[in-house]
Amino acid sequence: MKDRRPLRSPESLRSHRWLGVQDLRAFGHRSRLQQMGYDRADFAGKPVIAIINTWSDINQCHAHLRTRAEEVKRGIWQAGGFPLELPAMSLSEPFVKPTTMLYRNFLAMEVEELLRSHPIDGAILLGGCDKTTPGLLMGAISMGLPCLFVPAGPMLRGNWRGQVLGSGSDAWKYWDELRAGNITEADWEEIEGGIARSFGTCMTMGTAASMMAVAEALGFTLPNASSIPAADANHPRMATASGRRIVEMVWQDVTPDQIISREAVQNAMVVHNAMGGSTNVIIHLIAIARRAGIALDLADFDALSRKVPVLANVRPSGQYLMEDFWYAGGLRALMSRLRPHLDLSLRTVADKRWEEILQGAEVHNNDVIRDNDNPVFAEGATAVLTGNLAPNGAVMKPAAARADLLSHRGPALVFPDYDAMAKAVEDEGLEVTPDHVLILQNAGPQGGPGMPEWGMLPIPRKLVRQGVRDMLRISDARMSGTSYGACILHVAPEAWVGGPLALVRNGDEIEVDVSQRSLNLRIDAREMERRREAWTPPAPRYQRGWGALFQQHIGQADQGCDFDFLQAGAPTPEPEIH
Ligand code: FES
Ligand code: MG
Repeated sequence: MKDRRPLRSPESLRSHRWLGVQDLRAFGHRSRLQQMGYDRADFAGKPVIAIINTWSDINQCHAHLRTRAEEVKRGIWQAGGFPLELPAMSLSEPFVKPTTMLYRNFLAMEVEELLRSHPIDGAILLGGCDKTTPGLLMGAISMGLPCLFVPAGPMLRGNWRGQVLGSGSDAWKYWDELRAGNITEADWEEIEGGIARSFGTCMTMGTAASMMAVAEALGFTLPNASSIPAADANHPRMATASGRRIVEMVWQDVTPDQIISREAVQNAMVVHNAMGGSTNVIIHLIAIARRAGIALDLADFDALSRKVPVLANVRPSGQYLMEDFWYAGGLRALMSRLRPHLDLSLRTVADKRWEEILQGAEVHNNDVIRDNDNPVFAEGATAVLTGNLAPNGAVMKPAAARADLLSHRGPALVFPDYDAMAKAVEDEGLEVTPDHVLILQNAGPQGGPGMPEWGMLPIPRKLVRQGVRDMLRISDARMSGTSYGACILHVAPEAWVGGPLALVRNGDEIEVDVSQRSLNLRIDAREMERRREAWTPPAPRYQRGWGALFQQHIGQADQGCDFDFLQAGAPTPEPEIH
């Protein structure tokens, strides 16, 4: 954040145009507020703060956001602001089909236009379940009003017969044990009742925990906010403090362009690496940065990943869960160990520089938050691979893969779509060996559609029974941050638009060398060309509605999957008030 601007006057507030002037329109707006029981004393001359709430009855991770909104309001009233709660699309990760990623940009557009069309001076953003964090930030950054993110926070640890269970990761793990016949249906049912036992987001280092940490590292939350478990009383207190702070931010005119910068994005990438964060963050952070006019690409992630160690010992890369991470000191403690990699001169929404925020931060458990000389992994949270199979790049999390698969050559076993794959892997007669490379086509931004989290292809049942737990898998899909294994994801360009992934056939030799960052299909160039010429594009899936808009404008994974017309560009005019 640059030097502070002079405090604003009430007449300079955006909402003044709706509420403060003496004309027939403003009379209408004020009388309609009075209709709701508000008095002039409630709003006159005060910053109007939108609370963008992604609560819904079917969003398990945001169940507490209904009351958190009230706690935010308390802070806004205390500080002399006027709170207005505006609901926005909720995007519950497990329930929204075909995938929440189809709607991230929808949420971003909704946030931007909610803020633009109403008499709003500043915004609190309430969210945390996977796509809600990037959707909220993308929209708010594009609108450019002062904004502060209140992360939903992780749920408590799961529990089954005294064993700790982690979201996602342990579901996959015990599903394989069930398929292998090592646990019973009754065990599996008990696990169902124990794996998610409070409100809040996934408590492994999935997309939610990673993105909430990224939002904090970008500077959009109060200090340590992203690590507070949703069910901890610190959480509502943080919500109220955020409400107080956003009112000051409006008077100080702290707009998002003063928070997000190339250096802030760099800080966020450092944190993402040190957390061993989800591969999904790569897509979201590229999209967020581009909304702010900051060019960011895959190479930036790879370069950083070679320098920054993984220090957070949290599943799936590590051992513990986000609740333990909080007790160990939270993100503030982790960041205090990353000082050499961070730009500490940046100011956050808390109106403090990082050097001040990190002062006195302490790690309380050196196994949960590791020391730089005893990291979980010395490097390698993210590797970006390129080659003739992924000319614009693909990503992988080497830390989550079996080491010998990081350099591998094997025959392709190709599935043209999800259904074909799902059926084949259950077939005990499937001709497959542990050396095979499983390939899923048509699961990208257009192909999925919406780039679903199908990238952790199930190990074929036949091999699971033989004890195989990891194989090389390649797709243009994403994978859940709670997933693990030797999965190469986000292959760009995707198969649906004619990327080379579409041209792979059963038995083709695939070569992966993560140390060289290479991913190649070993067929000769002329054969590749011949197949390319024979390839025909699939018919468009949608003729109308959101799907049609999506397929016309969605970008590829290496570009952040934003719509072409939503990236930073010419400013959007303020609405006329007639
Ligand atoms: Fe909401 Fe995982 S399902 S964060
Ligand atoms: Mg997820």
